[in-house]
Amino acid sequence: MDKATVLTQMQQAWSTCQGCLLCNERTNVVFGYGNPDARFMVIGEAPGMNEDEMGVPFVGHAGKLLDAFFATVSIHPELVEMSKTEEFDYDRIREILLTDIFYTNVVCCRPPENRDPTTKEIEVCRPRLMETIYTVDPILIIATGRIPCESLLQKRKVSITQVHGEVFDITIEGRLIEIHYPMMAVLHPSYLMRINDFNQSGGMGDKTYQNMLLAMHLVDWFDHLHRDRDLPTRKKIRR
Ligand code: URA
Repeated sequence: MDKATVLTQMQQAWSTCQGCLLCNERTNVVFGYGNPDARFMVIGEAPGMNEDEMGVPFVGHAGKLLDAFFATVSIHPELVEMSKTEEFDYDRIREILLTDIFYTNVVCCRPPENRDPTTKEIEVCRPRLMETIYTVDPILIIATGRIPCESLLQKRKVSITQVHGEVFDITIEGRLIEIHYPMMAVLHPSYLMRINDFNQSGGMGDKTYQNMLLAMHLVDWFDHLHRDRDLPTRKKIRR
C-alpha cells in the first residue's frame, strides 16, 4: 500500500478518536497534512483555534511565521524572489512548501484555551504520531518548541531556549525494530512572535533563521548521501 493511502486510512481511523477528553470540545481532529513523501516533518505542540476550525495544522499566525522561515532559507526560485521583496503570499508559500514538508502535532485535538496538552493526552496520541513518522519516513524532523521535544526525546524537562538548534537522535518504535531519526529542536513560532526581536542581529529570530538554514543543508546533505551511494532508505532495509 502506498504512503498516501496508509495516511488516508489512518486519518479516517483517528477522526472519531475518543481516547481523551479533548474529543469533547474539538471541532476537527487535526491529523496532519503534507506530502506523504516529504523530506521534512514539522511536529508542533497542538492545534490552535484556526487549526481546529480548518482541520489543518499550522494555518494560524504561528504557522505563517514558520512558513516564512522556511521560505527565507529555501532555494526554490519563487520563494527566493518572494523573500527579496518581503511580500509574502502565504497561500502560495504553503503550496510550495507542501511539496517537501509534512506538518503534524504531538496531539491532534485542540486543548481548551490553548493550554499545554497533558501527559495523558500526549500518551493517547503517541501511537498516531509514531505511525505517522513511520509512514512518512522523513529525512529530518523539526520539533517546534518544548512540548514536541520532550515528547519525542521522552524526557520530562527540556529547556528549549538552551537546546534549540541542536540535532538529536530520536527513536521510534517500528514494527520490527527501533528506528532512528535526526530531530532538530527549534523555538516555537508563538514564542518568537511574543519576543519579537526579528530586527536584532543575534536575537532569537536570527538564531531561528540560522537553525532553519542548517536544517535545509542537513536534509540536502543526507539526501545526497543516499542518492550518491545509492543507499536504500530505512524503509527498504526494514521490509
Ligand atoms: N499550530 C499548530 O498546528 N501547532 C502548533 O504547535 C502551533 C500552531
